[in-house]
Amino acid sequence: MKSDEIRERFLKFFEARGHKILPSSSLVPQGDISVLFTTAGMQQFKPYYLAPDNAIKDFGTKNVTTVQKCVRTGDIDEVGDATHLSFFEMLGNFSFGGYGRREAITYAYDFITKEMNLKISYVTYYKGEGVVPADIESKNIWAEIDPSLDIREDGADVFWGPTGLNGPCGPTSEIYCKNADGADVEIWNIVFNEYFCDGSREKLDKGEATLKKLDVLGIDTGMGMERLVTIVQGKKTVYDTDLFDNEKTREERIIADHVRSAIFMITDGARPANTGAGYVLRRLIRRAVRFSNQPLDKIINDIQNKYKGIYNLDDKGEIAKEEKKFQETLEKGLKEFEKGIDPFILATTYGFPIELTLELANEKGKTIDLEDFNKKMAEHQKLSQTASAGMFKGGLANHNENTIKLHTAHHLLLAALQEVLGKSVKQRGSNITEERLRIDFMFERKMTDEEKKKVEDIVNSKIEAGLDVIHREMPLAEAEKLGAEMEFGAKYPEIVSVYTIEDKNGNQFSKEFCGGPHVENTKILGQFKIQKEEAVAQGVRRIKAILV
Ligand code: SER
Repeated sequence: MKSDEIRERFLKFFEARGHKILPSSSLVPQGDISVLFTTAGMQQFKPYYLAPDNAIKDFGTKNVTTVQKCVRTGDIDEVGDATHLSFFEMLGNFSFGGYGRREAITYAYDFITKEMNLKISYVTYYKGEGVVPADIESKNIWAEIDPSLDIREDGADVFWGPTGLNGPCGPTSEIYCKNADGADVEIWNIVFNEYFCDGSREKLDKGEATLKKLDVLGIDTGMGMERLVTIVQGKKTVYDTDLFDNEKTREERIIADHVRSAIFMITDGARPANTGAGYVLRRLIRRAVRFSNQPLDKIINDIQNKYKGIYNLDDKGEIAKEEKKFQETLEKGLKEFEKGIDPFILATTYGFPIELTLELANEKGKTIDLEDFNKKMAEHQKLSQTASAGMFKGGLANHNENTIKLHTAHHLLLAALQEVLGKSVKQRGSNITEERLRIDFMFERKMTDEEKKKVEDIVNSKIEAGLDVIHREMPLAEAEKLGAEMEFGAKYPEIVSVYTIEDKNGNQFSKEFCGGPHVENTKILGQFKIQKEEAVAQGVRRIKAILV
């Protein structure tokens, strides 16, 4: 069976069982800044697990299905083996209170064994830990459906999520099938979203976040498309399927994988850069260039052709541009590396991403002084930050959770100030640290206590309303037409990034030119408080505020 047919059969299978087929969301997430890329099918649906009724309003049903484009770079060192990819498609079915464990498990079993005619090697269920009990219900359902199944208990690996700073999460049940080598391949993850975690997965694992039971059980499943195709087509690795060109060596596979990711990222709006998603993209392209001894154009064409009719892929010449840029310094940089490694020079003069230098050092059994590198880079960035301040708008000290929350509160504050003091209130500067936000704005007199109270109340009401923070990129002229807030005197590029804070009906409370990052929804901000309002110059006031 061809991969195109498998994709189609998956969606149709769930459509026939009452699911609405929805499009993949962008690989570059809209709103959720705590992840650089979309890593899971459920990501675009996070809010619906908390407010299931909205699914009816938005989709007309509580059950939906997608094929989601995903990027995960956490496994990058494993790319080149039989199953790991930096880009993959995730086949998913989701339910926001429409059905529970029995249906989710039965659908998965039927799809694999009847629709795809495959044999399941084994399945897993969660053994339980802390406040989360063992998932005996899933174990029993599996045993009931197929008494001959090998059903295994598993630990932390089968507790999923949350993605990003917080979100729904829960125990999972996984399905494994055997590839042509007889090796077990994990293909499907069926998540039972029963909890809301108020911190990241990292925090949860450290015991620094808590789980609260959700009102309604949510279903979130994800199946690795390339892995499923491997099994269906009776192959040993993802590269032997019709989604690839039978790449044999580790190097060939890394190149094919990285270029494929890069094309998808660029198609969805990412561009090579020194920070954030653009940096990941740059790293992937440069890593591919290092492993390749010929131009990447043929591979780019092959990949774009392979997905014709499914995805309209277009790398817009960006890979070739990046390739050329790096080719020019790669050889000299490698010579420099041989002479003795200064990762800072390699990064700033020869454009070697630090990860590449680490990899080279590793291959040669050499060590490098990361601490020294980080220190030098931090100083270097401080100098160049001023140059890009226009885009990032007034130094965000760092991108940790509190700073990000305060950044969103900052947008709410500016909009509230305009509501109370008038549209003439324009931002003159801002500064956000982990502890507090600071905004400078044009206004000619001291604010009264009533005005301050009113502003606080508005911000807090917007927090409570649970407004969505939405990220869009658009031409400068369009953003100006939209009336998005600009910082006075700042210069903006042709394509700008705009953040709006809006309700489910699209009523925008705030719209600003901004490079992010922001929280996904205002709900998580807590209580907003103004600490101080003072003059900093003639006609310029300053507010310091916190979230408690
Ligand atoms: N969210 C789960 C995963 O990414 C299942 O979709 O594996």
